[in-house]
Amino acid sequence: MPTRVLVVGGGGREHALAWKLAHEPGINEVVVAPGSAGIATEPRVRAVRLDAQDPEAVVALARASSVELVVVGPEAPLSVGVADALRAAGIPVLGPDREAARLETSKAFCHQVAAAAGVRMARARAFAGGEAGAAIAFVQVLAAGGAGAVLKADGLAAGKGVIVTESLEQAVALVPSFLVRRPADVPALVIEERLSGREASVIAICDGTRAVALPAARDHKRLCDADRGPNTGGMGAYSPLPDLDDAAVERVLDAVHRPILAEMARRGTPFRGFLYAGLMLTADGPALLEINVRLGDPEAQVILPRVAGTLGPLLLAAARGAIPDGTPARVPVLPGAAVGIVLAAKGYPGDPRRGDPIAGIDAARAQGALVFHAGTVGRPDPPGGFGTNGGRVLTVTGRGADLAAARDAAERAADAIAWDGLQRRRDIAADLPSPRAAATGEPAGLGVPA
Ligand code: AMP
Ligand code: GLY
Repeated sequence: MPTRVLVVGGGGREHALAWKLAHEPGINEVVVAPGSAGIATEPRVRAVRLDAQDPEAVVALARASSVELVVVGPEAPLSVGVADALRAAGIPVLGPDREAARLETSKAFCHQVAAAAGVRMARARAFAGGEAGAAIAFVQVLAAGGAGAVLKADGLAAGKGVIVTESLEQAVALVPSFLVRRPADVPALVIEERLSGREASVIAICDGTRAVALPAARDHKRLCDADRGPNTGGMGAYSPLPDLDDAAVERVLDAVHRPILAEMARRGTPFRGFLYAGLMLTADGPALLEINVRLGDPEAQVILPRVAGTLGPLLLAAARGAIPDGTPARVPVLPGAAVGIVLAAKGYPGDPRRGDPIAGIDAARAQGALVFHAGTVGRPDPPGGFGTNGGRVLTVTGRGADLAAARDAAERAADAIAWDGLQRRRDIAADLPSPRAAATGEPAGLGVPA
């Protein structure tokens, strides 16, 4: 059981992590860096300003705070080697080394690893600068087979580098924009066959070889109700999923997480951290759309409140590469459901307006909802108040006996919060799939390696 933990990051996901850990018996302090004034309102949580993308600064803070475990929230610090530096300093860290983080930072690398591991993804090809002709030809091949194209920039793009095209003409017209001024020897664009179905996030805590699943969740990525408007980092989430039950989650571990872990270990770059499989539940079964190398945001804000008992010991064991044999394949969960609604600032997902005073956080909490801070800043007036300071500002999580009750709780609490220009969806967890859909989401899809 760790007693002191450092959480790297400062968004809603990191607030949820800090909240969960700080409430566990045995925890004396959770340091969040950079965190925020809002996150630091949790008991036993301290925020320390720091550049989370400076590996040496993170190591120095971990040492100075005598933490026994570091959990890295966002992908950016992982992609610059924060976990490598902590490991080199002998500090247990849950989060992959830079090389393993390429599963998220490079779509082309993810496809290579998945293919080697026998994990089904959408049909795809990668193209470098100067290959616009070949890329357009591939779009035409997909179209001839009746499939649309999804264009993905290779490299981190904060959820904004993907275009799901609506027509052959649109795809052909957009291809060159991904390839101009890009080198001829590195993939710049991955083109995928467009799949359809509902998405699901299955995130597992991994120690290099073993994987333990957190409850499945579903994000709502578009800005507006009925999945309209631009893609965002995520506007709300719910858990559990009627169409991906516990048995299906375990099959996903077998079909995705474990083969990926085995392939990464075989390459000499074992994966320790949260392995996030972004799935499309197609009529032929689940297919892997993407891997993230961290918890999801806002998924974490609905997943972590559902976890029963302590998480700290499992996170530490995974960081040490030593999840005990015999650990159940799924983290124990509380009965019931959680629904999280993201409240975003005016202008999001473009340039968000900052400085709008936020009202109603205490009123939302008084109803029993969890309010996780992301883009907020402390304000002196009223004392202890907060203002907007980023795109996604808060996540309001409601809990209940089932998804309908949790949704009601989240909606009511979100209604209590207001600021000028607040944007949010009103249909998070409103259109639930039938449990029957789970039955179609089974076997054919994910190729279990022979
Ligand atoms: P990614 O960053 O790869 O997860 O893509 C962002 C979003 O684009 C996903 O959450 C899906 O909504 C959508 N998307 C990605 N790949 C595909 C695909 N092959 N078919 C349909 N939609 C996709
Ligand atoms: N909610 C999607 C993500 O964290 O990437």
